[in-house]
Amino acid sequence: MDARDPLAHFRERFFFPKTTDGTDSLYLCGHSLGLQPKSVHSYLEQALDDWATFGVEGHFHAKNPWMPYHRMLTQQTADMVGAEPAEVVVMNSLTVNLHLMMTSFYRPTTQRHKVVIERGAFPSDQYAVKSQILFHGFDPATSLLELTPRDGESCLRDEDIELLVEREGESIALIMLGGVNYATGQVFDMPGITKAGQRKGCIVGIDLAHAAGNLPLELHDWGPDFAVWCSYKYLNGGPGCVAGCFVHERHARAWELPRFAGWWGHDEKTRFQMGPEFYPMPGAEGWQLSNPPILALAALRASMEIFAEARIERLRAKSTSLTGYMEFLLSQTSSPKFSIITPSEQNRRGAQLSIRLARDGRKTCQKLVSEGVIGDWREPDTYRVAAVPLYNSYQDVYRFVQRFVAALR
Ligand SMILES: Cc1ncc(COP(=O)(O)O)c(C=O)c1O
Repeated sequence: MDARDPLAHFRERFFFPKTTDGTDSLYLCGHSLGLQPKSVHSYLEQALDDWATFGVEGHFHAKNPWMPYHRMLTQQTADMVGAEPAEVVVMNSLTVNLHLMMTSFYRPTTQRHKVVIERGAFPSDQYAVKSQILFHGFDPATSLLELTPRDGESCLRDEDIELLVEREGESIALIMLGGVNYATGQVFDMPGITKAGQRKGCIVGIDLAHAAGNLPLELHDWGPDFAVWCSYKYLNGGPGCVAGCFVHERHARAWELPRFAGWWGHDEKTRFQMGPEFYPMPGAEGWQLSNPPILALAALRASMEIFAEARIERLRAKSTSLTGYMEFLLSQTSSPKFSIITPSEQNRRGAQLSIRLARDGRKTCQKLVSEGVIGDWREPDTYRVAAVPLYNSYQDVYRFVQRFVAALR
C-alpha cells in the first residue's frame, strides 16, 4: 500500500521527532500537534530577513509585504473549509475567535437563551460558552444544554441531536458543536444539524479544531453562521499558530451585529486615516482586531502550500484507508483490555481513533512514548492516535499496532 500511495512522498517534507537512539519516532499525534514542514525554515527566514532589511518599511517592501500578508492565506483557507474567500480570515487563536463570534452571534433573550454543546466538549469551549452565558446575566444551570450519549454508548447519535433541537428549539439561541469531538473522534452531521437548528431559528456555530485539514468541509453550502478552528493540529502551523474563522456570507454586511472592534477590522480604505469611528470591513475580515503576527503566518503558509499540492480530497481518501487499516489490525487482537470508542462508520470519523483502556491506560501511554510511539492520553481512560495521511504510512500503522499490543501485555 505504501508503494502504491500517490501521497507517500509528502512524508519526506516533514521533520519527525527522534527517539533516544536517533531513529524517527512513530508519530501518531497530528490530532494534537502536527509535524513541522521542513519548508517552514525558509518561510520564516524570509520574514526575518525582510524585517532585518526593511524594518518598518517591510509592511510595503518585504518580498511579501506585511500589510496584505494575511491575504496570502485566504484562498487556501477558503478551499480548505469550503468557503468563499470573503467568508474566512486567519487571526488570533481559537478560543479568542470563539469569544469574538459569540459576542456577535450569541444574543440571548429571556425566551431564547440556551446554548447546546456536547457534554465533555473540549474544556476551553465549555469555559468560553459558560462564561458567555454568565456575561449575559444568565445561568449555565438553566441556559446550557449538554448533549449526552445514550446509556452504555460513547458517541452521540445524530438523530438524538436533531430530536433535542426539535424539542427545545424555541429556547435555543446557539448550537455550538465541534465538527469532530476531540475525545471520541466522532464526526457530527454538520449539514444536518445546521439545517435542523436553522429550521428552529437557532444560530449555529462549529468548532473545527479537529476537522480542519482532517476532513473535506463545505461550510458555505452547509450554512452555519460561523466556525472557528486552530491551525496547529492537522494544519501543521506550529504550536499556538494563528487560528481561522468563518462567517457566513449572509452576515458579511450585517453592520448591526454587535462586535468587539479593533483597528485591523476597520475598512482598509480608511484605516490609516486614524479616525475615531469604527467602520468594519465586509465579511470575516471585519472581525479582525490586531495587525497579524507575520512569523506565525509565514509558518502556516509553508504548511498550506503543501495542502494545496496534496489536496484535501486525496488526503481524505488515504486517511479513510489508513484509519480503516488501523481499526482492522486492532480488531484482530480482540483483547478485553481495550475497545475503540470512535464510530466504525467511515463517514462518522476522521483520522483519529480513540481507544478506551480498561486499566493502567496512562502507564501504557507513557511506556509507548518512552519507546518512541507518540499518541496522547486524555483522562479518564482514552488513548488517542491519528494516522495523518500527509506524513504517516501504512507501515507506521502496522508497527504501531504491534507496539501497542506488546505494551498492553
Ligand atoms: C476542540 C478544541 N477547542 C478549543 C481548543 C483550545 O484551543 P486554543 O488554546 O488554541 O484556544 C482546543 C485545543 O486543543 C480544542 O481541541
